[in-house]
Order: sequence, then C-alpha cells, then structure tokens
Amino acid sequence: MELKFVENPSPGCFRFRGVPEDQAEPGTTLMTSKNAEHIAELFSTPLTGAYNWDYEVANQKLWKLYELGKKLNWDAQTDIDWATPKLSRNQTPIDDMMFLGPFLGWEPFEALSEDDKMRFRWHVLAEALSNFLHGEQGALLVASQLVTCAPTEEAKLYAASQTFDEGRHVEVYRKYLEDRIGFMYPCNKYLKALLDKVLTDPRWDLKFIGMQIVIESLALAAFDLMRQLSHDPVLAQVTEYVIRDEGRHVGFGVTFLEEYYKSGVVSEQELEDRAMFTFEAAQLMRERLIITQAAENLFGWDPAAVRERMMTGAVMDLFRDLLFTRLMPNVKKIGLLTEKIRPLYEQLGVLKFEELPDATNIDWVAASKPFARSQEQAA
Ligand SMILES: [Fe+2]
Ligand SMILES: [Fe+2]
Repeated sequence: MELKFVENPSPGCFRFRGVPEDQAEPGTTLMTSKNAEHIAELFSTPLTGAYNWDYEVANQKLWKLYELGKKLNWDAQTDIDWATPKLSRNQTPIDDMMFLGPFLGWEPFEALSEDDKMRFRWHVLAEALSNFLHGEQGALLVASQLVTCAPTEEAKLYAASQTFDEGRHVEVYRKYLEDRIGFMYPCNKYLKALLDKVLTDPRWDLKFIGMQIVIESLALAAFDLMRQLSHDPVLAQVTEYVIRDEGRHVGFGVTFLEEYYKSGVVSEQELEDRAMFTFEAAQLMRERLIITQAAENLFGWDPAAVRERMMTGAVMDLFRDLLFTRLMPNVKKIGLLTEKIRPLYEQLGVLKFEELPDATNIDWVAASKPFARSQEQAA
C-alpha cells in the first residue's frame, strides 16, 4: 500500500480503475497513477471521550431505533438488483427537473449540441452522486467519533450501528458510481467546509447538530427527490434503502438532543452558540446545493455565472424549501429556534416550516417494514 497525503481534494474528473480503457469517459483521469496507491488528507481533532458506567437503557425510543437498525441491515452487494440493465449514455438518467431546470433557456446551455447536453446530464448526476458519497464518508467519520464522545449507553450503541450504516452507504454509492457511471467528482467546497468544522470541533453535541440535524436533513430531502426522479430503477432502489437508514439517524439525533438540551446542563449562552452554529451550518448546506464542477470541467463555464443562474431558478427555490421543510421542525424541537436566532431564519423566509412534523414523529410500522428485495431472497 502506498499513501499520498494531500492538503485538499484534488480538482478534476476521475474515472474508476475498473472501467475498461475503451469505455473511459473522455477527459477523465485516474485518481492515482498506480494501483493500490491511496490519496488521503489529514485532520486533527481534540476529541473528548466519555465512558459510561451505567449500562441500563434510559431512553426506550433510542433503544428501539438501535434494534431496528440491527434488523434492517441490508447488504449493498446482494440486496440491490445490480443485474438490471444499465441506461445507455444516450438516455436521460434523471428527470431534467432535478438538475437541468435552471439551465433551460440559458444561452450557453441552449447553444450546446444535443450530444453535449446529454453528456452534461450524466456529468451533473455524477457530480451530485459523488457529493452524496463524500457526505457519506463524512457521516462515517462523525458517527465513529460519536461512539467515543456520546455520554450515554444507548447513544454509544446507536452511534456504533450508525457507523456501520454509513459504511454501507459509502460502499453502495461508490459501487453505483463505479459500475453504472464510471467516473466521479471531488468534494464540493461547502460540504467540505462543514465536514471540517463538524469533525474538528471538540464539542460533541455540535457533531450531532452538524451531522444528524443539518447534513442528514439535507440528505433526506435530496435523496427523496433523487428516488422519485431517477430513470434508473437501481438508483431509485439504492436511494430508498439509504433513506430508510437516514430517517432513523435523524430521528436519533433529534430525540437525543431534545432530551440533552432540556436537561439543563447547557447554559443559555451555550444554547445560543449552538443555535448560531446550526444556522451557519444550514447556510453552508444551502450553498452546497449549487453544483458547478461538471459545468466548469466540461465547458469551461465560469462557476460564478453558473452559480448565479442556479440561484435564481424556481427549481432551486423548491429544492431549498425542501431542505428547510425537513430542518426547521427539528431545529425547533431541540430548542435551537431561539428568539435571538429567529430573525435570521425569517430573512431566509423559512419560518413557515417550523410547525411541520419533526423527526421524532416516527411511523414505527413504516420504519419496521422489511425491504421487498430481502423478503424475496428469504422466500
Ligand atoms: Fe448515510
Ligand atoms: Fe446517516
């Protein structure tokens, strides 16, 4: 094994080593020059760990989520119908509403040939899925930190089961990108900034907020759209499996933080700090929705112009609303929609979502339903 350490994710569009040379996407490069070479980036974290000497389960809801996580363990290799024929590169992989909407009617886009428009569809999808993959890696690292930092027994065990869930999510998105797309993009800088913050902050509850409240709320909103709009049934299936897990993760985060913040161990000033952190993290996540790498890589379009175009489209408004639809009720539930922070959310026009159901309203029947594919295999 050879390790090469870098300061930041390398820019570019990378193809997977397993893709035969004659099927390689033009303009892509290999991530490393040699097989078995690894690219890594270091970060340091002042982790404060906690033992827990009281092994009794105090929160039955968290325990139930842990039990469900064990029961619903799926296998990324055998529970997904990978044999389903792949879409050809001449087919639209996902409804244009998801990614192309903002570009319709925009002169640089309309001037492209039909072939280039189709390539763009595939590259934008690859960019979005690559960022799902990078986000899942971040979730894997954060969940593993929570095993050490979380102060209660059921939270530690839940974080352990979440760590395995996130490992499978990394596996399944990597496999999808490698088998069915063949190339990938580096981590979006806004997502990377939030992951850096969450992974290196010494306060364990901020890790919960950053991951389970903000990043996973966004993931749920984006995954849900992806599942509905994908033209590849395999992507819809992968996403459905991941959504089931993420729903539990958010349920866990909100349930745990609500109890923790209501216990009174956190001062008023500390709560305000958390409220501000949540707001800033949500803003980073809004930015993360703007994806410009594929447009820059394929056509050399100025990222600022692409960004401007995406920011003003009605599709992006809908997408951002979806994110806050998930986020606001949870922020309120854990007590971080403080009087001081409310005006900032008001400016974003998202307070209208605060009364929607939060993630502690778990539909246990739906959450316990076995996966259709797993049932078929067991029969
Ligand atoms: Fe995940
Ligand atoms: Fe997750």
